Amino acid sequence: MEKNLVYEKLNRCYESMKNKLPFKPQVALILGSGLGNYAERFQEEGVIDYREIEGFPVSTVPGHKGRFIFAHVEGTPVVMMQGRVHYYEGYPMSDVVLPVRLMRKMGAKVLFLTNAAGGVNFDFAPGDFMLIRDQIASFVPSPLLGPNVEEWGARFPDMSHIYDEDLQEIIRSSASQMGLKLQEGVYLQLTGPAYESPAEIRMCRALGADAVGMSTACEAVAANHMGYKICGISCISNLASGMTQQPLSHKEVQETADRMAVQFEELVTRSIGKMKE
Ligand code: HPA
Repeated sequence: MEKNLVYEKLNRCYESMKNKLPFKPQVALILGSGLGNYAERFQEEGVIDYREIEGFPVSTVPGHKGRFIFAHVEGTPVVMMQGRVHYYEGYPMSDVVLPVRLMRKMGAKVLFLTNAAGGVNFDFAPGDFMLIRDQIASFVPSPLLGPNVEEWGARFPDMSHIYDEDLQEIIRSSASQMGLKLQEGVYLQLTGPAYESPAEIRMCRALGADAVGMSTACEAVAANHMGYKICGISCISNLASGMTQQPLSHKEVQETADRMAVQFEELVTRSIGKMKE
C-alpha cells in the first residue's frame, strides 16, 4: 500500500497505548459540555491521558481535560473521552477525528456523541435535549478527503442512515422512563469559533437544521465510514443568534450545560445500560 500519513499516525497512536487498555470497550462515549464530570460517577478501570499517546491531538481550550476513561456503565464496557479537539482549534480534520478512529481500533462498536448546541428551531428552549436524527456536515471539510483507507471503509460510504434507528429508540425510551421531554432534529456543524450571525442562523434554518454547533458531525462521518453504530444527543444550551435579544457567550452555554448535567447524565447512563451486547 502507498504510504498514508493519516493511517500510519493512527497505527502509531494505537501501538503506543494498546498495552494500557484495561478491556475491550463496546461503547465509545464522547463527553460534550455539561458532561465533563460524568466519568467521575463510575469506578474507573483505567485512565489514559491523551499526552501519553504519541501524536495524539490535545485540546487547547482552557479547562478542558484530556483523557480516556474506561469504566463499566450499567454493565456495558465503555471508553469515555473527557475532552475532544475541535476543528476551530486549528487541527487538520484528520486529527479531529483521530480519537474516534482510535476507539474503533480499541474495539468499540457504538459511538455515542454528546454536545452543547444552539437551538435553531423556534420550538426549542434552552435546557432542552435533542436526539440527533440526521446532520449537515457540508460546511466543514470531510474527514474522508485524501486516499481512502480500505481497511477502515469504502471510498464512497453511504450516509443515508448515520444515526442508528435502534439506538435512537433506546434513547427515546430512556427519556420517556425519566419523564423527560426529548426534542428531535438535525444537527448542523459550522467551523466556529465565532458564534453565528442572525443571517447565518436563518440560513441554517432554511437548510433544515434544528440545532447548530462546532463539533460532532465530522466525527459521525468518520465513524460511519468505519462501520460504527452511531447515536447523539445535543443539550440545547441557548437559542441561536438573533432568536433572542441576548448576545451569545461561552459562559451562558456552559452555565446551561452545567444546569442540565444531572439529567443529561441520567439519560446517557440509562441509554448505555440498554446497549449491552
Ligand atoms: N452556535 C454554535 N455552537 C454552539 C452554540 C451556538 O449557538 N451553542 C453551543 N454551541
